[in-house]
Amino acid sequence: MRRGYYIAGNWKMHKTRGEAIELAAALTAGLKDGEHKYLVAPSFTALEAVGSIVKGTNILLGAQDVASEEQGAHTGEVSVLQLKDLGVQVIILGHSERRHTYKEDDALINKKVKLALKHGFEVILCVGETLEEREAGQAEVVCESQTIWGLSGISAADVAKITIAYEPVWAIGTGKTATPEDADAIHAYIRKVIARLYGQSVADSIIIQYGGSVKPENAAQLMAKENIDGALVGGASLKADTFVPIAKFA
Ligand code: 13P
Repeated sequence: MRRGYYIAGNWKMHKTRGEAIELAAALTAGLKDGEHKYLVAPSFTALEAVGSIVKGTNILLGAQDVASEEQGAHTGEVSVLQLKDLGVQVIILGHSERRHTYKEDDALINKKVKLALKHGFEVILCVGETLEEREAGQAEVVCESQTIWGLSGISAADVAKITIAYEPVWAIGTGKTATPEDADAIHAYIRKVIARLYGQSVADSIIIQYGGSVKPENAAQLMAKENIDGALVGGASLKADTFVPIAKFA
């Protein structure tokens, strides 16, 4: 079964280097007796500084994206080699803001997943439907397709390094959280897709995080669901006062 809960903070395009240092220091203090797996994903510009603070603690260092090529003439992009050099351990891929605002498609995301795995990173692969898709009854099929695409060509051994994050687009940054029941139903569905692809024991052990307006007030109800194994937190990860209680949900 699952190896326990995994709570991650995606800081998105927030925090100067100084602010990031301050938050990282508060989190290492606040979470040092925490019992779960933890991650913070600051902007590229703060990775090195935050990395030096969380190194050797129970908080992993994550990046929010990576280029699909190893290196070369790709102005504005950041490579796996550069992330490895900074001590990054995990890369978040396929976030809905990358899919929808920056038009990343499934093939590109899959290429990034493979490259990240090749270089030894863990990956958080994000999937999730838009409001329009949910209202059209397509939530399951959209998540299924994004999961299959994202994992295409990835071995069962490598899947052990992947976490899925279900982030319904309509719940991100909107204050609207999926009900624990709705989220759990999609998580169960994604787990079934994984079972079909990799077998039941891989499906039973893969961590599936929920993301979308997770707050201290709703974290425990979400985590109580059978198929919800953690959270990918945006807004509430920007302050220790809100992230620590989520990370230590009771
Ligand atoms: P919010 O928690 O701000 O809704 O963001 C969720 C998210 O996108 C995390 O990756």
